[in-house]
Amino acid sequence: MRAVLRREYGDTSVLRVEEVDDPASEPGRVVIDVAAAGVNMADWHLMSGEPAVMRLSTGLRTPKQVGLGQDVAGVVAEIGQGVTGLAVGDAVFGSARGSWATRASAREALLQPLPPGLSFEQAAAVPMSGYTALQALRAAGDVHGRRVAITGAGGGVGSYAVQLAAARGGHVTAVCSGSKAAFVRDLGADDVIDYTSADPTDPSRRFDVVLDFAGSLPLAQWMRVIPTGGTLILGGGEEGGTFLGPLSRSLRGLFARRIKVITLMASASSEDISELAELLTAGTLRSTHSYTYDFVDAANAVDALRNATHPGKIVLTP
Ligand SMILES: NC(=O)c1ccc[n+]([C@@H]2O[C@H](COP(=O)([O-])OP(=O)(O)OC[C@H]3O[C@@H](n4cnc5c(N)ncnc54)[C@H](OP(=O)(O)O)[C@@H]3O)[C@@H](O)[C@H]2O)c1
Repeated sequence: MRAVLRREYGDTSVLRVEEVDDPASEPGRVVIDVAAAGVNMADWHLMSGEPAVMRLSTGLRTPKQVGLGQDVAGVVAEIGQGVTGLAVGDAVFGSARGSWATRASAREALLQPLPPGLSFEQAAAVPMSGYTALQALRAAGDVHGRRVAITGAGGGVGSYAVQLAAARGGHVTAVCSGSKAAFVRDLGADDVIDYTSADPTDPSRRFDVVLDFAGSLPLAQWMRVIPTGGTLILGGGEEGGTFLGPLSRSLRGLFARRIKVITLMASASSEDISELAELLTAGTLRSTHSYTYDFVDAANAVDALRNATHPGKIVLTP
């Protein structure tokens, strides 16, 4: 099979498209013919090996796993021992190991049937960002009637969080660059702050809940706009240095008293992929897929993600 991989950590110049062996059939797992694969900031972290603290698990000098990509949509090509709910030929989406390849292995529990009306590209754009948005909203508690600010609203996670918070009755303020204002309003945002020209933490503002997926502002600044008892979810951000990255903000959050500061560590779960499939089927959640790159253009796709070139989500196709 063909796979986009990297044999060393680095910038996008380390990405290669190579012929490698197909994934083996394993108990409880299926092999998928990949039709589309999502692109996430996690893939950039795994490619670059930053923040360095991550290498304690991914490989200190060189990556233990050369493959990249976790979000997948495609067709089941082989089923492993003990797989009972899927059959060869089923169209599915969810989380896989090394989805930036023409074939990928996935746990049956982390796959769902392709929701009716969704293309493979639209479905591949959902899993990781969708899990993260769902888990952030869960951590935030009931948002009905509450003022919810969401930073990074024009990106992958933010674009799902805006939809979920609006569907749950929150008054949503999306924080994004001006070019994405119409995009986030269309997803259900009531107000938009263009952070390039206005300060979302101006003392005149009040938010009961902040879902911070941009991570660009200090905690102290958010604390001045969140009333006592409010909640700040530290969901993302690419600042904080090359060793600890966003974890450095989380450490400071441990000392917050007046408000709840929660560091989100989202993970794939069978309950959440099932909930995402239901929301997509019901039309409560829309895929925010906006652009597709070919595998051979994976480096451009990753650069586009880093530069926030496109609203919502990018996917790769073989
Ligand atoms: N906690 C977890 O478990 C978890 C899971 C998944 C992802 N993450 C993290 O969450 C973050 C977002 O991920 P993503 O996949 O959504 O990335 P993404 O698609 O690149 O979206 C990030 C968005 O942030 C916007 N942005 C940049 N600076 C901003 C600022 N100062 N204020 C508001 N928006 C700003 C960018 O567009 P504009 O500048 O054009 O508005 C972009 O749309 C990343 O740091 C990622 O590592 C965390």
